[in-house]
Amino acid sequence: MICQIFFKMLNKLCVANIPYALNPTWKKMPMKQPLFFVSNWKMYLSYRANIALYQQYKEQLVSTVTTTGHTLIVCPTVSALAAIAHDKSAPFYLSGQTCSAYDQGAYTGETDAQSLRELGCTYGIIGHSERRIYHHETDEIVAHQAQQLLHQGLIPIVCIGETREEKKKNQTHAVIARQLTAVIRVITRSTVPYFLVAYEPVWAIGSGKLPHQHEVERVFSFIKTLTHGLDIPPIKLLYGGSINPSSVDSLKNTKDLDGFLVGKTSINVAEYKVVIQACNW
Ligand code: PGA
Repeated sequence: MICQIFFKMLNKLCVANIPYALNPTWKKMPMKQPLFFVSNWKMYLSYRANIALYQQYKEQLVSTVTTTGHTLIVCPTVSALAAIAHDKSAPFYLSGQTCSAYDQGAYTGETDAQSLRELGCTYGIIGHSERRIYHHETDEIVAHQAQQLLHQGLIPIVCIGETREEKKKNQTHAVIARQLTAVIRVITRSTVPYFLVAYEPVWAIGSGKLPHQHEVERVFSFIKTLTHGLDIPPIKLLYGGSINPSSVDSLKNTKDLDGFLVGKTSINVAEYKVVIQACNW
């Protein structure tokens, strides 16, 4: 009897701690793929605070990630990347928040894709609206950044999305087509196994306002139609903008959703954990 209880407990423990795909209970779960969670820490925190936050991630999110099978990608401030990458004990991936459109040269303040790779990144965010708006990064620049990432074998996380004015003028699809087409031209099938496209309506970022699920579904379906039949790697579709514990439920069942890009909430570990666990099916 004692033996039986012991083995039951052991089984529970094991099941809780092995990755999703290897988990024997996986087949009994509703068929929903694990998601990507891209944690964009932006410039919210100093170098030391980035390291401290990573420590909190390790303490509080490792078991959540291993039990759910979700892929957690951390995008720290670039100065903290090396120190964070040095710590290989957690099952998280690293990404740059942006990268230079050039490989090397007299580009003061830029970070090249090769350095991102050497620092331990697997991914790189490009085209974030804050870069497009404050640093005037055009579609052409974003395409060059994609090329730099791909050249280093890094997986691009391409951010796209319309402003409030563009939405009002019914230009959402036109904007997305323009932003995505520029990047897709440089992505060929052989370079990476897949890439991520984050639909982030500019008006939803940091505003507490979210699109309706059917609006995101329409955008996703438009992206699928736009890219159908092209000789490019599979696209993973993310949503980003004001995701938090009270908003995640409204979009987590979005058709074709492969994950979330999370800004502000990702620097609050307790809240972020709730978001990730809300997608535990
Ligand atoms: P937010 O940011 O979650 O703070 O709205 C998302 C983003 O900018 O990618």
